Amino acid sequence: MILVIAGTNRSNSTSGKVARRVVEIYRELNRDCQLLDLADVPQHCWSSEYYSDELNAKPLEFHPFVCAVEEAKALVIVSPEYNGGIPGALKLFIDLLPNRDTNLVARPVCFIGVAAGEWGGLRPIEQLETVFLYRKAFLFPERVFIRACEDVVSPNGEILDPRIARRLRNQAERFLRFADHLLPLRDLFDSLPNPAALEHPSIFAEESL
Ligand SMILES: Cc1cc2nc3c(=O)[nH]c(=O)nc-3n(C[C@H](O)[C@H](O)[C@H](O)COP(=O)(O)O)c2cc1C
Repeated sequence: MILVIAGTNRSNSTSGKVARRVVEIYRELNRDCQLLDLADVPQHCWSSEYYSDELNAKPLEFHPFVCAVEEAKALVIVSPEYNGGIPGALKLFIDLLPNRDTNLVARPVCFIGVAAGEWGGLRPIEQLETVFLYRKAFLFPERVFIRACEDVVSPNGEILDPRIARRLRNQAERFLRFADHLLPLRDLFDSLPNPAALEHPSIFAEESL
């Protein structure tokens, strides 16, 4: 399953509309694809009480969101730009996910930036790439940036600019090939114990002996 994440909890967001269109594209390409819209995460789940790395310490209503991320073969992140960077809700969502050492390891991830401004979400996408790289995900290098998004995305979610519509479709086709080719490597990483933990100073010191 391909999981498309709409990266803001703002209701009726343009990112959510783009994410819905992207889900349709993957389905048109005959792939199982689901939407995870952060606007659907119940309000009480966004709490500092839930930073634990254990799924059982999270509220039950948060579990389906965690399962969607963990079961996804690949992730597509659609992120708006807020104050020159990643929306706080998207970073908080990543921080609230359990099983930090493994949950994103070797996971193919693809990025789409959305912004009212000139730079089309370049800044949050590059910040997100740093976060996902830290978590040892496999980053698809062909990003799509939607600048002046109010002119490009209609109120009912139609992509009005044919060049952007084409880019989204091309990205999806190529990302699927990228993700399919990386699946065997994902199995290899899954078989190693705690790969992200290798950065921990104590383990790092042992490794370098
Ligand atoms: C809190 C907040 C901060 C924003 N900061 C920026 C920004 O730094 N650059 C920009 O181009 N647009 C910014 N915008 C406008 C968004 O790009 C615009 O709302 C666009 O529709 C994408 O966001 P959305 O998915 O929430 O609709 C901001 C919007 C909000 C709500």
